[in-house]
Amino acid sequence: METKIFKSDQINQAAALLRQGELIAFPTETVYGLGADALLPQSVEQVFTVKGRPSDNPLIVHVVDFPMTKEFVENYHPLTEKIVKNFWPGPLTLIFSIKPGSLSPVVTGGLSTAAFRMPDNEMTLALIEKTGAPLVGPSANTSGKPSPTTALHVYHDLKGKIAGILDDGATQIGVESTVLDLSGEVPTILRPGAVTKEKLEEVLGIEIPLDKHLVKESETPKSPGMKYKHYSPDTPVLMIRPADWNNALDWAKSNEKKVGLLATPKVAKRYESADRFVFDEDTIEAATRGLFSGLRALDEGHKVDVIFAEVFPEDHLGLAYMNRLKKAAAQNYFAEK
Ligand code: TXA
Ligand code: MG
Repeated sequence: METKIFKSDQINQAAALLRQGELIAFPTETVYGLGADALLPQSVEQVFTVKGRPSDNPLIVHVVDFPMTKEFVENYHPLTEKIVKNFWPGPLTLIFSIKPGSLSPVVTGGLSTAAFRMPDNEMTLALIEKTGAPLVGPSANTSGKPSPTTALHVYHDLKGKIAGILDDGATQIGVESTVLDLSGEVPTILRPGAVTKEKLEEVLGIEIPLDKHLVKESETPKSPGMKYKHYSPDTPVLMIRPADWNNALDWAKSNEKKVGLLATPKVAKRYESADRFVFDEDTIEAATRGLFSGLRALDEGHKVDVIFAEVFPEDHLGLAYMNRLKKAAAQNYFAEK
């Protein structure tokens, strides 16, 4: 199968293919998604096959607006309106209880709840509108690889396996959406993202807990997807705390390890020799935007023996960055080696 690249004036063609049951990758503000018509179970099944994704891991249903969720949702949490008003379109996925039978078990993994999100991307909202149905969309990478933040990343992983990719350049945020469970009494964060715990608490005026597994590693996550080892390149990744850079690089030198640096300009400029992916700026936003792209670039062709990645404090957006980085590094910090 030839994988076509569609630009903004070819959304009609991409939508027509989705209606025929084909798979089309689409841009969002977080990462690229692997789209299928959520109402065509056979197409949704293809999504799992193409990605190599475990079938018990449910998908997000991408909607064009809030009313599109009404056909599926059984009852809304009392805070829903306030949350949607403040954060949609945007990087916030909401879990609701659904009307029995309204979505295929292929989409929900057989759960009585489902995940919904309205992405903040004009091209993709037009794509959903023109398809006339919500789109499922896991990240458009091969399962276990870093999520794609450009159309080229998608092409690299899925060329020949999907009908097309809608190209809107690099994504702005760089990690997947926050997942907020609204199916119980207490809204709970199942996956940290760019809509942070602090922002949610500020807007809602209540404490928003993190799911147990985000606080204690031994706990089983409520979000099925969080239990898998995600986001990992083939090259080992070590997290480097601010005070450990000199020691880590000395260790690499004496062990003849070729290092790939993944760091802010401030840190990277102190170490001129190594292979490197330098974030655009010295900010957590720039680091988050560059994280997956950097992991992919340094892993490409296996040029380095180990990737040294900068750590950030685990609050605000840093919680999302560190959540993804820890998975890529299989929890390994340099000092603990
Ligand atoms: O930013 C994003 O969310 C991207 C873009 C493409 O929208 N999509 C994405 O999808 O990251 P995916 O499939 O990689 O992640 C969906 C997460 C998984 O961790 C899954 O387990 C969880 O949402 N999830 C889906 N339905 C759920 C449910 N009913 N209850 C709990 N967790 C659920
Ligand atoms: Mg994913």
